[in-house]
Amino acid sequence: MEYRKAGESGVFLPEVSLGLWHNFGDVDNFDEARRMIITAFDKGVCHFDLANNYGPAPGSAETNFGKILKSDLAAHRDEMFISSKAGHDMWPGVYGDGSSRKNLIASCNASLRRTGLEYFDVFYSHRYDGVTPVEETMQALIDIVRQGKALYVGISKYPPREQQRCYDILRQAGVPCLLSQYRASIFDTHAIDNNFGPAAANGSGIVCFSPLAQGLLTDKYLHGIPEGSRAARATGYLKSSEVTPERIEAARRLGEIAARLGMTLAQMAIAWLLADKRVTSVIIGASSVKQLEANLDAIGHDAFTPEDLHAIAEAAMVPGVKY
Ligand SMILES: NC(=O)c1ccc[n+]([C@@H]2O[C@H](COP(=O)([O-])OP(=O)(O)OC[C@H]3O[C@@H](n4cnc5c(N)ncnc54)[C@H](OP(=O)(O)O)[C@@H]3O)[C@@H](O)[C@H]2O)c1
Repeated sequence: MEYRKAGESGVFLPEVSLGLWHNFGDVDNFDEARRMIITAFDKGVCHFDLANNYGPAPGSAETNFGKILKSDLAAHRDEMFISSKAGHDMWPGVYGDGSSRKNLIASCNASLRRTGLEYFDVFYSHRYDGVTPVEETMQALIDIVRQGKALYVGISKYPPREQQRCYDILRQAGVPCLLSQYRASIFDTHAIDNNFGPAAANGSGIVCFSPLAQGLLTDKYLHGIPEGSRAARATGYLKSSEVTPERIEAARRLGEIAARLGMTLAQMAIAWLLADKRVTSVIIGASSVKQLEANLDAIGHDAFTPEDLHAIAEAAMVPGVKY
């Protein structure tokens, strides 16, 4: 594993991290989830990305992660970097959603209870909710750090204007933003174009999520929607309507480039993000140890020629469609 420094901090993260959004909930195979976490850790993936609402049921990914931590990795806590987040719909009533102080503080406490952790390495505001003043949300994050419940803070999916405000407030408080988490992939360059610049300019590390566009940037859907895949599962966030012929055709074109470069499409998709040296880590998802191991082979293949990058950009274009 290779490690990169997160912005202007002293923290290093693995180039590839493991996210627990799907496949670690109560509806999933616990034994495979356990094997994935242990395999990841054994291979140097020391950063695990959680959120309060990951499951289903919401919260169960944190509970399951806590169980695995206790049974298999308790002695290794200081070798791990564990994140959680709050801001999406989590519990009934008006306080279970959004980016208010009320939601973030209660949520962080509940996430600590579920995981059995004493503190998170980084705690994120999961989103800008369009209602809560950024000052209120950032003050909650600052207080979470001052209370010893997290070592660092991060933001996720904030639009550029609010993103800059976060950096300013956090820096002034002496709790700089360690990580900015955005969706980014060969199919979705919006954050690369709009949010990576401000993050890098403000000394924040950048972590990318859904680097495989939830599986579209693999060979998985080339011949239809397989049973058990994210697009086929009722609990999956990828809708079958998003698996369009145009995207599949683009994946096929990209797969040909990957093959020419000696990689699978999934590996090329990860390596393509890592070619951007502003990126600290790429958070992948996986539903099996096999996928995880295959994807980790992307590491060390992030040297693309300008011709390769041009060919990838051309092949990725899906007429009239924004991922
Ligand atoms: N901040 C946020 O708002 C936010 C939002 C979303 C995600 N995230 C974070 O980012 C993490 C990753 O997101 P993601 O799960 O969408 O990432 P992803 O890497 O784009 O998609 C992962 C899915 O792709 C498929 N896949 C992976 N490797 C494969 C391979 N080699 N061959 C075929 N299929 C393969 C699997 O789907 P199947 O299940 O179909 O096998 C897997 O579950 C999350 O777990 C979470 O931690 C954060």
